[in-house]
Amino acid sequence: MLDLLALQKELLLRHIRPGGTCADFTMGNGHDTLFLSRAVGEGGRVYAFDVQPAALESTAALLKREGAPENVRLICDSHHHAAAYIREPLCVGMFNLGWLPGSDRTVTTRRETTLPALQTAIDLLAPDGALLMAIYPGHEEGRLEGEAVCEALSALDRRRFCCSKLQLVNSPTSPYFFLVEKAK
Ligand SMILES: C[S@@+](CC[C@H](N)C(=O)[O-])C[C@H]1O[C@@H](n2cnc3c(N)ncnc32)[C@H](O)[C@@H]1O
Repeated sequence: MLDLLALQKELLLRHIRPGGTCADFTMGNGHDTLFLSRAVGEGGRVYAFDVQPAALESTAALLKREGAPENVRLICDSHHHAAAYIREPLCVGMFNLGWLPGSDRTVTTRRETTLPALQTAIDLLAPDGALLMAIYPGHEEGRLEGEAVCEALSALDRRRFCCSKLQLVNSPTSPYFFLVEKAK
């Protein structure tokens, strides 16, 4: 059966070049940061954002434990400020929306900052770059975030971007994702 997490990585790997630059806009416990760090390799760079110092600590520990390449910059700031840190085009950006597993659920991503961050990420995308937005519609803010992201992506010019949505139709509260691919 379809494994959405495996599929996300497979789709993103089509856009990641060794030596390229990526961003994890919602670092959390660092699993996506680690994936991106390995994918771009020693010559690449990964910017990872979270508003919770605990996320930076747990990601730093994960990267060390896993012997990840030393190509990650951990940033304790909201992702909608990303343009202040990232100066080069991104081959891939990931948003895994919601809250840090096992922590305070009130510190969740919110439309007020998710939508400006999404726009910043779109502006930073390199030709042939891609963004992934994982949505958790099982809670109210997550459901609304998904609708708002869908509306924003629907407005993008089809000649420049291909925006798709992958969701299990027989499990509507399960996580789903959007993929934004920029033309070459
Ligand atoms: C679902 S978790 C991410 C999981 C993570 N990608 C991983 O691999 O473990 C969502 C994270 O987004 C963070 N977050 C919430 N608002 C944010 C914001 N405005 N900017 C950056 N991160 C934010 C939360 O603190 C939380 O750690």
